[in-house]
Order: sequence, then structure tokens, then C-alpha cells
Amino acid sequence: MNAIQFRTARADDLDALVPLYLRAYREHPEYGDTRPDKARRYLQWLWRHHTLFLIAEDAQQRPVGFVVMHANWQDTTGQPVGEIHELVVAPEHWGQGVGSRLLQAALAHARDAGRTRAGLWVGERNLRAQRFYQRHGFRPVRWGYWVRMERPLFASDASSGT
Ligand SMILES: CC(C)(COP(=O)(O)OP(=O)(O)OC[C@H]1O[C@@H](n2cnc3c(N)ncnc32)[C@H](O)[C@@H]1OP(=O)(O)O)[C@@H](O)C(=O)NCCC(=O)NCCS
Repeated sequence: MNAIQFRTARADDLDALVPLYLRAYREHPEYGDTRPDKARRYLQWLWRHHTLFLIAEDAQQRPVGFVVMHANWQDTTGQPVGEIHELVVAPEHWGQGVGSRLLQAALAHARDAGRTRAGLWVGERNLRAQRFYQRHGFRPVRWGYWVRMERPLFASDASSGT
């Protein structure tokens, strides 16, 4: 874990993220794109809709995870929200804290942008991710094929790293 480094993504990183994304969603193909061309298009959409695109990479500078956040998104009622568009960690690195560190960086970014709330959509059967988000203070606010999860962001959270 100590060897994991974090850096801002560049446009020419996107191709290397396609196989990582496909592997991470293998358990839940219903919630992710399963074809490389579609996954690439989705990553390009993420590239056009981010204010933070952070990559975690190993000592060999291979990507092992990424988070995409838009800190000035509008929710379905038009209210501003720090939106986690995507969070992905390579399965062989699950449970090592990489996802938590990416998420914390994204929440700090939204807080710095003045947001008081963060949100995301997660597949209803993607219980691993829902548990993960619950442990990070998110709560479901709408249920369906996609579950809406949100949490407040307080300036005072910044010192505790949550
Ligand atoms: C959800 C996801 C991003 C979590 O990433 P991760 O790197 O495994 O997350 P973490 O390691 O920080 O936390 C996972 C668990 O490992 C444990 N853990 C955290 N740090 C740890 C460490 N240093 N050592 C051992 N275990 C640790 C925690 O108990 C945590 O448990 P929880 O899931 O009940 O919260 C990852 O499973 C994933 O990519 N899933 C597929 C894509 C997906 O569903 N994304 C969400 C889209 S909305």
C-alpha cells in the first residue's frame, strides 16, 4: 500500500484505464460497460465532466484505481452537489485502503469547492460498494435499479480525514 501514489490524470491516461474499469465491474456487468469501446466512450464522457480525476498507481506506475468527481454538479432538483461520477479499484487491490484514499481526496476537493453535500449513484445489487460508502458516511436517499447515496460535508471533517 505504501507504494501506491496518487496523481491527477491526463487525457492520454484514458486508454490504460479501460481494462482496469472492465476488471473492476466483472462481478456486476449490469452496472458497467462490458465492451472496451463502450468503456472507452464512458471514460471520455467522464473526462469531459470532471473537476477532479485522480489516479492511484503502483510502484511500476501502473494504474490501480481512479476517482472522478465533479464538484459543481446539479442534482435532480437543481441543487449543487459534489458528485462522485466513478470510483474504481483493481480487484487485486481491494481491501487495502486505495478506494478510501481516493474517496477522501474527492470529498476534500468538493469541500474545498464550497460544497456541503456529496452524492453518487450505485447499483442496487452492488452491495460491496454500498457497504463501502456507508462506512464513509453516505446514506441511501432514493432506491431503485440505481440507489442514490448522499452525505453531508462539513468543514470540520477535513481534519479527521473523513
Ligand atoms: C468499492 C471499491 C471502490 C472499494 O475499493 P477498495 O480499495 O477495496 O476500498 P478500501 O480498501 O478502502 O475499503 C474496502 C474494505 O477494505 C477494508 N480496508 C480498508 N483499508 C484497509 C487496509 N489498509 N488493510 C486492510 N483492509 C482495509 C475496509 O474494512 C473496507 O471495508 P468496507 O468495504 O466494508 O468499507 C472497490 O470494491 C471497487 O472498485 N468495486 C468495483 C467498482 C465499483 O463498484 N465502484 C463503485 C461505483 S459507485
